[in-house]
Amino acid sequence: MNFEFTEEQLMIKDAARDYAQRELIQDVTERDEKSIFPEKHIKNLAELGFMGMMVDPEYGGSGMDTISYVLVMEELSKVDASVSVIVSVNNSLVCFGLNKFGSEEQKHKYLTPLAMGEVIGAFLLSEPEAGSDATHQHTTAEDKGDYYLLNGTKNWITSANSASTYIVIAQTYPEKRHKGINAFIVEKNSPGISLGPHEDKMGMRSSDTHSVMFTDVKVPKENRIGKDGFGFKFAMKVLEAGRIGIAAQALGLASGALERATAYSKERKAFGTELANHQSVAFKLADMAVKIENARNLCLKAAWLKDNNKQITIASAMAKQYSADMAMEVTTEAVQIHGGYGYVKEYHVERLMREAKLTQIYEGTSEVQKIVISRDVLKD
Ligand code: CAA
Repeated sequence: MNFEFTEEQLMIKDAARDYAQRELIQDVTERDEKSIFPEKHIKNLAELGFMGMMVDPEYGGSGMDTISYVLVMEELSKVDASVSVIVSVNNSLVCFGLNKFGSEEQKHKYLTPLAMGEVIGAFLLSEPEAGSDATHQHTTAEDKGDYYLLNGTKNWITSANSASTYIVIAQTYPEKRHKGINAFIVEKNSPGISLGPHEDKMGMRSSDTHSVMFTDVKVPKENRIGKDGFGFKFAMKVLEAGRIGIAAQALGLASGALERATAYSKERKAFGTELANHQSVAFKLADMAVKIENARNLCLKAAWLKDNNKQITIASAMAKQYSADMAMEVTTEAVQIHGGYGYVKEYHVERLMREAKLTQIYEGTSEVQKIVISRDVLKD
C-alpha cells in the first residue's frame, strides 16, 4: 500500500487550496446570505481544469484521477460547499456519466463544453415521490419513433437554472419497472421546460436548486444514453461514483471546521489560558482529527478503487455515509468550541454546520448508504 500522493496530485491540491483560501473566502458570506450564484468562481475553476477533471483530454477534460478530485473537493469544501457541489455534480453526475456511457456524438456535442466549463450540467433523478426510492420514476419518456416525449416533474435539482445541459432519468416502459427506465441528454432551453421557484435552503445557499417541470418536451432519439432500458443502471453507476465527491465534500467541511476550531482555540483565552490548554477542548480536537482521518482514508480508498477500475459500490457508500455523519458531528463540535462566536456568521463554522447537514441528505441519504452496505454485509 502506498499512502503517498504524487507530485502532480499535490500541485492540484495546492492550486485548489490557494483558490479557496484566497478567492472563495472573500465573498462566501455574502453569497450565502443572498443566495448569489458563484458564476465568476465557476469560470475561474473551469480555467484551472476543475469542471471536467476526470474527462479524457480529447473531450476537453483534464484527464486527472479520482484521487486528485477528492483532494480538490476537500480543499474547496473547507471554504465553500455551495461551489463544491456545483463542481461535484458537473464532474461526477454529468461528465463522468457521459464520458463513460455516452456515444461519440454525445461526447463531442455535449461532454466537451461541459468538461471545459463553458456550460454546466445538472442531474435530474429525484421526484416529488421518488427520492430515496429511485426506481419509482413517474416522469415518462414516451417513445414516439424518432423522438421521446418527456412529461413529469423533477425535484431538488442542483444547478437547475444555471445549467444548460440536463441528464434526465425517466420511465419509458412502466410495466418493466426499473428495467424500463431511460437516461437522456436534454437541452435546458427546449420548449416545454419550466422551473419552480428558487429553493430557499438552510445551507449551500449559493448553489441554485429548483424543481423542473417537463410538458411534452421533445428529446431526439440520439440523446438517449446507452441502450433502451439502461437508465436505472446508468443512474446507479453515476451515483456510486458521485458519492465519492460528496464524501470528499463532507470531509472538507469537517477539516475546514477543525482548522477553524484549532486556530480559535489557540487564540481565545478563558480561565486564564488559551482554550487549547484545556483538556476538554484539546480532546475534542483530537477526536475530530481521528474522525476526519478515518473519513479521508475511506474517500481515498474509494477513489483509488475507481481509478483502478475496481468495484466501488460498497466503498463509495461507506465513504459517503461515514463522512457525512462525521461532518455533522465535527462541525457541531467546532461551533461548540467557538461558544457564542460559533453561532454568528463571522467565524464561518455555523455555515459549515448548516452545509454539512445536506451531505447526509443528497446523493442518497445516510440511510440509503446503509441499505447498500447492509445488503452487502448480509448477503450469503
Ligand atoms: N450499479 C449497477 N447496478 C445497480 C447498482 C449499482 N451500484 N445498484 C443497484 N443496481 C441495479 C440492481 O442490480 C438491480 O438491477 P437488476 O434488477 O437487473 O438486478 C436494479 O438496479 C435495482 O436495484 P435494487 O433492487 O437494489 O433497487 P432498490 O429499489 O432496492 O433501490 C437504492 C436501491 C440503493 C435504495 C437506490 O434506489 C438508490 O440509490 N436510491 C437513492 C437515490 C439517490 O441517491 N438520489 C439522489 C438524487 S441525485 C442528487 O442528489 C443530485 C444533486 O443534485 C446533488
